[in-house]
Amino acid sequence: MTFEEAKIKLEGEGQEHLLSWYEELNAEEKETLLRQIDELDLGLLNLLGEGTSETEKGVLAPLGALTIEEIQAKKDDFAKTGIAALKKHKVGAVLLAGGQGTRLGFDKPKGMLNVGVHRELYLFEQLICNIMDVVEQTGEWVPLFIMTSEKNNEDTVGFFEEKNYFGYNKEFVFFFVQKMAPSVSYDGKIYMEEKNRISTSPNGNGGWFISLANAGLLDTIEKLGVEWLNVFAVDNVLQKIADPIFVGAVLENDCVCGAKVVAKADPNERVGVLCLEDGKPSIVEYYEMTDEIIHSRDKDGKLLYNYGVILNYLFRVDVLKKIMSENLPTHIVEKKIPYMNENGEYVKPQELNGYKFETLVLDMIHMMDNCLSFEVVREKEFAPIKNATGVDSLESARELMTKNGIEI
Ligand code: UTP
Repeated sequence: MTFEEAKIKLEGEGQEHLLSWYEELNAEEKETLLRQIDELDLGLLNLLGEGTSETEKGVLAPLGALTIEEIQAKKDDFAKTGIAALKKHKVGAVLLAGGQGTRLGFDKPKGMLNVGVHRELYLFEQLICNIMDVVEQTGEWVPLFIMTSEKNNEDTVGFFEEKNYFGYNKEFVFFFVQKMAPSVSYDGKIYMEEKNRISTSPNGNGGWFISLANAGLLDTIEKLGVEWLNVFAVDNVLQKIADPIFVGAVLENDCVCGAKVVAKADPNERVGVLCLEDGKPSIVEYYEMTDEIIHSRDKDGKLLYNYGVILNYLFRVDVLKKIMSENLPTHIVEKKIPYMNENGEYVKPQELNGYKFETLVLDMIHMMDNCLSFEVVREKEFAPIKNATGVDSLESARELMTKNGIEI
């Protein structure tokens, strides 16, 4: 793209400030900037004008879960089926580690956080430790796909190398890099990061399968015979990965996908709830539900919309391939976005200062014909590290780790 072409593209959208420093740049820097402008999806900015990116929800209905008691009763059967599948490498794990963890405010990739107290224990290390439980049970490595972003790929891969993959077999670890999207100020102006670089951030965790495919990993999946992918977040230290009982339950129930859920701590808990929307499984955010729905109960007094998701899903690969080309909704998310100000200084804001555009893995659930809602014990499987202090923080996660007998 030439300077003139870039100017025309930007002027149409009121984004010509991206070229303010152009004259100061050397030839290589100019090229970098023009390439970024060329690749820029300005269509995303129209979503801001619409006020919100959230689409209207359809008709909601409750979706029960396979409860802890029900799972307990069939545990051995489920485990047997799950282990058999895992022994044949039919299940791969996908670690979503492309996020920026802005709420936590940790400078490095979140997985590099030391969650130990009396010893070094990194978040990545603990996740590998969790997956090793399954490797020990089955005697086979679980193929592990790790999604990073342009911003943290080098650090993440370097860390795994430095730590010798925490004892995991590196032949079964596959990194891939997700896509980026521009970040904008509240008035819709795209931020700059450097004089020759537009501010971009990872475009959400919804594009994980496309990014995996674009990285050429579908061949690997086929070669290994992987038929299911267990997608999970980097920041839940108690995450059970490729859990044979979960896998077995989804398989035995003939479902195309499964989601681990926890019973809500109280009706107003701010979690996405797995339910039905227009007859299909769907995850509906707490702010998308009316008070009436939130508080509705069955005849035994149990909440009808009771099960919150914990970002641990199992998807069938052939179904993922089919829906790959369908668009997921784009969410506009308020974040703290570091940027370069008009004096050319780099600013790291303390407060929210703009929007990022993200697609979310939870929206993939609505593309599935069915989804097994699989209840787990919150205190045993859910210790997310989202915030620096308080709820869902390193502190609360450490407490739960200790309760679960993990030496920290
Ligand atoms: P979060 O929704 O907590 O987002 O991600 P985040 O970016 O990590 O953190 P905040 O909101 O800025 O504080 C849930 C999971 O999805 C991954 C994260 O790494 C985490 O495992 N994720 C998120 C991606 O892989 N890519 C993204 O673009 C966003």
